[in-house]
Amino acid sequence: MNTTQNREIVVVSDLAQLALEATHRFVQIAKEVIAEKGKFVVALSGGTTPIAMNKLLSSTFKDQVEWDKVYIFWGDERFVPATDPDSSYLAAHESLLKNVPIPESQIFRFPTELSSPEETVSAYAKTLVDVIGGPVPEFDLILLGMGPDGHTASLFPGFETVKSQNLTEAVYDAPKPPPTRLTVTPVVINNADRVMFLVTGADKSPMVGRVLNASNTVREVPAEYIKPTHGKLIWLVDEKAAAEIKRS
Ligand code: 6PG
Repeated sequence: MNTTQNREIVVVSDLAQLALEATHRFVQIAKEVIAEKGKFVVALSGGTTPIAMNKLLSSTFKDQVEWDKVYIFWGDERFVPATDPDSSYLAAHESLLKNVPIPESQIFRFPTELSSPEETVSAYAKTLVDVIGGPVPEFDLILLGMGPDGHTASLFPGFETVKSQNLTEAVYDAPKPPPTRLTVTPVVINNADRVMFLVTGADKSPMVGRVLNASNTVREVPAEYIKPTHGKLIWLVDEKAAAEIKRS
């Protein structure tokens, strides 16, 4: 484990161990925050890596979270119906939400039934402020994945989205299908009390090395823009993805 002032890097053997570590942390953070504030406001990630954690949270560890005090959001979404196989909401519903007693009124997906991506992200930004607070909502935990190109949420290299001062943005022609997406920006992510990346696989090791090795000070890929202003940054990576992290 490698910890600097607000960044912790945890290397585990494989996806199964990463899911277990992520689940332990989710449970622990939820307990602490609910004890302190009475509710736990978390943004889930899309992609496949978090699914194993979701399944543990909704089975073995189900009784360790006060789900009626949990408020669920997403860091990003695909601009598809909530019933579409590509929907990150649907993936979370099937692997977690349908199996735990979270009140429907505490689940806030991107309203992709609206007529345009712009309308959807504008509505979601309003929901973030109305439910969590503003001018910039402060999540207790934001979960993120990362692609081999250094994208995170739906912030992709070469897109101006990562520099937006808005809370949310629509993304067109994203290199990871489906192409039309919705995302929170680093303005929101970096205001969180905790940001936790879940990253596995050898294909991501060059980018993990680039993002985490202190020598790289130039910010070019979106994952390099994720630097919480006051909160904690946690990287959970498996050994394959961690292969190029320099041991400082
Ligand atoms: C998505 C996510 C995306 C994902 C990464 C990693 O919509 O797919 O927002 O940022 O987290 O691409 O995906 P995997 O976990 O499947 O590798």
